[in-house]
Amino acid sequence: MGQQEAITRVAVVGYGYWGSKHARVMSSIPDVAVTVVDSQEERLVEAASRHPGIRIAGSLEECLDEVDAVVVATPPGSHAAVALTAIQAGKHVLVEKPLTTSVSEGELLVESAGNENVRLMVGHTFEYNPAVWKLREIVRSGVLGRVLYVDTARLSLGRYQTDVNVVWDLAPHDISIISYLLGEMPTAMAVWAHRNIGNRHADVAYLRLNFELAGIQAFVHVSWLDPNKVRRVTVVGDRKMAVYNDLSDNERIRVYDVGVDPAAIDDSTEAHAMPVTYRTGDITSLYVPLNEPLLVQDQHFIDCVRTGARPDTSGERGLDIVRVLASADSAGGAWPMTSSGALYAPAPREPAGRPEVVAAAWTNAS
Ligand SMILES: NC(=O)c1ccc[n+]([C@@H]2O[C@H](COP(=O)([O-])OP(=O)(O)OC[C@H]3O[C@@H](n4cnc5c(N)ncnc54)[C@H](O)[C@@H]3O)[C@@H](O)[C@H]2O)c1
Repeated sequence: MGQQEAITRVAVVGYGYWGSKHARVMSSIPDVAVTVVDSQEERLVEAASRHPGIRIAGSLEECLDEVDAVVVATPPGSHAAVALTAIQAGKHVLVEKPLTTSVSEGELLVESAGNENVRLMVGHTFEYNPAVWKLREIVRSGVLGRVLYVDTARLSLGRYQTDVNVVWDLAPHDISIISYLLGEMPTAMAVWAHRNIGNRHADVAYLRLNFELAGIQAFVHVSWLDPNKVRRVTVVGDRKMAVYNDLSDNERIRVYDVGVDPAAIDDSTEAHAMPVTYRTGDITSLYVPLNEPLLVQDQHFIDCVRTGARPDTSGERGLDIVRVLASADSAGGAWPMTSSGALYAPAPREPAGRPEVVAAAWTNAS
């Protein structure tokens, strides 16, 4: 194989907050040549100053003939169009989360990638995060006992997005993490969402996801309007509980040897007795290697491009998550907004793979 053929040429489309990180990690992978593409001139100037020697282009079309693969890191509403352009030109594509902003676009990408025989991968970064791997190991080992429920919180002040609501922006991470931990997709969901600021999108939302095989529910809280930055996943088992705090430097996974048992209170004279008993024990923090998840993910994409292997987070996996997000939307996001009160919407049963919506409330500040 000649020198030229050993190099994998990658266009990173979108040099914003996240695309700049892709450009950095892709540039660090041996034998990868990066072209940064952005429609804004100042973003290209910034890219060129940070990565001297890097190629730049004002549009994907300008450099499409000179690359083998494309990373789509533009805002979600443009993912489908940019990715389709790349796929139709026979390029392998890594699309940032969410894969697309509708199920039909996601299906089109998956089908087109199949027809063109190119690899389509979605950037579910947390599935490449050693802390999430460790959490899954703990859940699967049975050390927590029977899982009772999962709770996640992804909160901070911003970043407000222009083209998607807080559910499409942040919940892909949590749905990806929880379904990865449990090994199944939710079959039913409830959503409560509210727009507090501006006139565009819900900025605070709660989802309840039902996982049929595990027989449990997961609760997801996402917010752009919270004073504290929180990135937390809690798995509550009937023997122990585990907390993954993504913001901790050296204690990202803690296992709590604590629990609650129902007390046997048969004596009716014990009116004030506690209905439960508590177990408390050690808190253990587990070692998690500090590999940068985005680098692990992008290296995996390059490996798939080079070997033809199917990505662990394939286009189909991205589409699974889009189906869940679209269910939340169909329950309220597309409905006429009301200034007060709740919309309780028993939605019609969706085709297989898309969770049934059992309750929904999308409301706006008056
Ligand atoms: N995996 C993660 O943890 C993670 C974290 C943050 C963002 N993201 C995802 O990354 C994507 C980008 O988010 P962001 O916060 O970086 O957005 P951003 O607004 O900061 O940057 C987007 C950039 O894309 C450019 N752009 C838009 N349309 C373009 C087009 N057609 N061609 C070329 N350039 C174009 C814009 O000029 C801008 O520089 C989103 O899909 C987001 O969901 C993922």
